[in-house]
Amino acid sequence: MSSSISFPVSIILLLLHLAISASAAYPGNSYKHEEVTLEVDDDLPTLPDIQWRSNDYLSRYYYRNTCPDVEKIIYGKVKEWYGKDKSIAAGLLRLHFHDCAVRGCDASILLNHERSERMANVSKPLRGFEVIDDIKKEIEKKCPRTVSCADILTAAARDATGMVDGGRYWTVEYGRKDGFYSYDTEADELVPKGHESITSLLELFQSMGLDVSDLVILSGAHTIGRSSCGAIQDRIYNFNGYGKPDEPIDKKYLNYLQRKCRWASEYVDLDATTPNTFDTNYYQNLEKKMGLLSTDQLLYSDSRTKCIATALADMKSHTYTQLFGAAMTKLGKVNVLTGKDGGEIRTDCSVVNSHKY
Ligand code: HEM
Repeated sequence: MSSSISFPVSIILLLLHLAISASAAYPGNSYKHEEVTLEVDDDLPTLPDIQWRSNDYLSRYYYRNTCPDVEKIIYGKVKEWYGKDKSIAAGLLRLHFHDCAVRGCDASILLNHERSERMANVSKPLRGFEVIDDIKKEIEKKCPRTVSCADILTAAARDATGMVDGGRYWTVEYGRKDGFYSYDTEADELVPKGHESITSLLELFQSMGLDVSDLVILSGAHTIGRSSCGAIQDRIYNFNGYGKPDEPIDKKYLNYLQRKCRWASEYVDLDATTPNTFDTNYYQNLEKKMGLLSTDQLLYSDSRTKCIATALADMKSHTYTQLFGAAMTKLGKVNVLTGKDGGEIRTDCSVVNSHKY
């Protein structure tokens, strides 16, 4: 554990404030509707403004009249799949990130055609597509042409994460539309693969409207899930082509990885100590030089991220999960398509509607 923390208390309080205001417990199928208070302001918008805004904002109550059971259906299906394979939670969480990182959270990752994002090299290890298809089929039976695939993926990632030991639900707002376009080249160019510099990760996050604390907090998603050995073989055998492993790796851990990762097709846990629990051990591992990806380990050595990673390592896991929920809420709003002209409601998540008629 780290000892002295120079991370200003005020920043932690601010993060906590953001977390508490943005995340709320989602108790499965019994959730409360809150009163919405409108503040009167001198600069009252005109009527056309209001109409534009009500179309363009995401809302917790978006499907209240059109598909009131949508959250219950998604939660029930995710629970069913999670019951069969707990590791699907990590798959869905990552799928959601990949979706949002390219063209925003518009379900572009789900489109299944030649040269779509799903066909990119970086998408090869992705899993969870069948879960989303299953949920979509069920929802189409109850509320045809109403709920977008982008909303389903966002809520499924939240529900799956909440089911993990130590995981927590956060509030999801709805109203995303599904995009029309998806290109493998964009995914391969944008989605981080684990050997980037902190500068390029910060640039990516900035382009998504996310900041340095979002980068460090969301990287904590690697407290669950796995990586293919192919993604780290360079790091453990031949870092940057020098014929040696990367420097900041604990010796015993390196030894373990070299034995475990003889074949690129093997898998290794992203969190070396508690891979099935959503907790802050991911950050504590970084302090012990036991981050799996070089991008994980760099969070602990780069001056822009180290103080945040150190503070998170010392934080109670249930406090961290509140911050994680708040950052996920931000991620889920990246470049969303809303309103009448921004996309469509796909009836099948893997194809755009126009291709079917
Ligand atoms: C910030 C930069 C990030 C980098 C460089 C990165 C990189 C990676 C890599 C290389 C893998 C393993 C891929 C493989 O199997 O070959 C992985 C897995 C994973 N990533 Fe990230 N990631 C990042 C951010 C995120 C974010 C923001 C989330 C979610 C909010 C996330 C969630 C996950 C999860 C859950 C897994 C495990 C997936 C599974 O078990 O199937 N990652 N990531």
